[in-house]
Order: sequence, then structure tokens, then C-alpha cells
Amino acid sequence: MGFQKIKNDVYYVGVQDWDRRTFDELIPLPDGTSYNAYIIRGSEKTVLIDAVDPPKIEELLTNLRKLGIDKLDYIISNHAEQDHSGGIPIILEMYPDAVVVTNPKCKSFLMDLLNIADEKFLEITHESTLYLGNKTLKFLLAAWVHWPETMFTYLEEDKILFSGDLFGSHMTSSELFVQDEAKVYFAAKRYFAEIMMPFRTNIRKHLDMLNNYQVETIAPTHGQVYDNPEFILEQYHEWISDTVENKVLIPYISMHGSVEKMVNYLTEKLTELDITVIPFNMSVTDIGEFAMELVDAATVVIGSSTVHVGPHPKMMYAAYLTNMLRPKAKFASIIGSFGWGSRMVNMLKDILTNFKGELLEPVISKGFPKESDFKALDELANTIAMKHKDLK
Ligand code: FEO
Repeated sequence: MGFQKIKNDVYYVGVQDWDRRTFDELIPLPDGTSYNAYIIRGSEKTVLIDAVDPPKIEELLTNLRKLGIDKLDYIISNHAEQDHSGGIPIILEMYPDAVVVTNPKCKSFLMDLLNIADEKFLEITHESTLYLGNKTLKFLLAAWVHWPETMFTYLEEDKILFSGDLFGSHMTSSELFVQDEAKVYFAAKRYFAEIMMPFRTNIRKHLDMLNNYQVETIAPTHGQVYDNPEFILEQYHEWISDTVENKVLIPYISMHGSVEKMVNYLTEKLTELDITVIPFNMSVTDIGEFAMELVDAATVVIGSSTVHVGPHPKMMYAAYLTNMLRPKAKFASIIGSFGWGSRMVNMLKDILTNFKGELLEPVISKGFPKESDFKALDELANTIAMKHKDLK
């Protein structure tokens, strides 16, 4: 796609991966993704900020050639994960005078992951600066975005924050800057849910730190560049807050219709009580959609059939995923059915170790749900409605 100009002597040289459909063998990418890399041409030194996934390195090198970059002084690595660092060894071969600029932890990761030699690094510390002649870079350590070594690079003269994965979105576009904020809102929220949500506390500190810097442009490593940073900063403040919405998610699996009947009944009851409900049949659900709704749902009700004496394996996965993402839900419950015996509730509880909210009385039916089970579901719906009233 070539390079694109952000501001004077600052260029986008990243790559769009239009066809990629899975990340980390886990995260669905319905819109592909991009690996964003940037060139800053100072009057004395030229810098590349981050690289790309190894399969896309030729496209990055082509962009550098088209831009006329015949000498690189520095390669800044804000994050050691291979979708941004994997291309660095080849860039070092093509530009042998370049040194990799990063913090000590990221350096050790790059040495372990990519076998980059110790002498190829220039170590920086928090708030240290790098002068490029007429431009100045400041490094801001920002651990746990979403690895422990992550950092930001701030270009002082142009007020550009190169934020690594933070504020990113898995999407592709030939348009450099965000234009359709509604579209980016969903992509960025989904990305936050899948990648950043477990690290809310750390991100809160990083957002506070950024208050000390005037940021006119945010350039993340995935998705489009923000020339209106307020848009994404406001969303992040909301997503990392403790506020939850009057919303119930029901991830479920139903093998022979009993659980489905219970889920439909509970959905209807909650809807009548003016609660937003989203059932997710985990046989067909895009887990990114589910994760995105976990960002602000007040309650999660897990629904499962019993296989042997435990939950359906797909619900073990859903519960594990939910636990790993550490959503801020305040209430949870379990509904389901069994034929001859079930340890489902205890097995699911054992997985949800990170859940610190209130577990509401589970509803488990023997076989197809009967009148007493529907009555218990009525009670569960009423309890949820009462608990949600207190949220307001
Ligand atoms: Fe986009 Fe954590 O790498």
C-alpha cells in the first residue's frame, strides 16, 4: 500500500493484513488487522518505530525503499510481541548500522524471542529522551499493555504518542486516520476486550500518566491513527471504569433443548424487566463479540448441559475465557440441566477464580425444565432486576 504521511517528516510505513482471520490461534479477526510501523526523519537521525509480523516484512522493506530510507539509525521497539518485533532481525540485516532502542525488560525478551545480539541494543529508562536533531523522543514505560515490557514513545515537537498495542484495533483500512468513529468504536472495544481488559488497573495508571502530555495524535500498532485522540481516550476511561450496564449475558450450550428452553425463558423474563439480555450460543458465537459485551455487562449467567457429570466442554472453555478476561461483572449465576448426576456448578465455580462479585442461586433442572424450574428462573430474573436497580 506504500507509505503515508502523518505530519512533517513522520510517516506510516506499516502493513495491512487484509486476509488474516485469527490472531494467537485464538482471536477471530473478521476485519483482518494491520501491523503499524512509523518512520521519523529527524534532521540528524532517522528512526523506525516498531516493525511488522515476519510474513509481512517484505512489504515494510518496500515501504522504506519507496520512502528513500537508505540509512536507519534507530529501531524503537515499544513491545516485544512478534507481530511488531518479528521483522526486526531482517531489518537489522538490511540496515546494519541501526541499533534497537528499548527498555531492559523488552531487550531481554527480544534477545530470547529473536536471538538479537546484546551489542545491537541501546537501553533507555522511563522518561529518558533521544534526540534526532530537530525532533525529540521521550520514552514512557507502561507495563502490562498487555505484556510486562511495554512502553510508549512520545514525539515532543509533533505531540504524537506512539502507543504500541494500547488504543489499537484489529481492522484494516487504506485510510490512515480514523474517519468513521462508529466503526472504529466497535473494533477498538472488541480489541480492548480481547487484549486489554484484564489489565484495567495498569491502564488506568497509564492514562493518568498521559495527562501530563499534550497528545494531538495517537499512533497505535494496530488499526487506524487517531487525529482526534479525545475520541479513544474517552472510550478507554469508560471501559476501565467500574461502571457496569443494566445488561445480562447468557453464554450457553444446549445439547437436547432443555438448556435452550431455560435460556429462552430467562431471556424473555429479563426483557420484561427492562434488562438488556444477550444470549450467546457458544456453538456458533464469535468469541470476540462475546468478549466485547463482557466489557460493561453487570451480570453473566452461564448455561450448560451436563456431559458425563460435568459442564459441556465448550462451556468449560467459555468459563475459562471469561475468567481470563477478568470482566467487571458484579453478578453471576449458572443454569443448566442434567440426566442422572451433575457436578457442573462446582466445576464451573472452580474455574471462575477471578470473579469477585456475587454468585446468585443457580437453577439446575433434572431433564427437561419443569414448573418448579421455571419458577426458580422467575426468581433468578427478579433477583437480577433488584440487584441491577442498585447499580443506578
Ligand atoms: Fe500487537 Fe501484543 O502485539
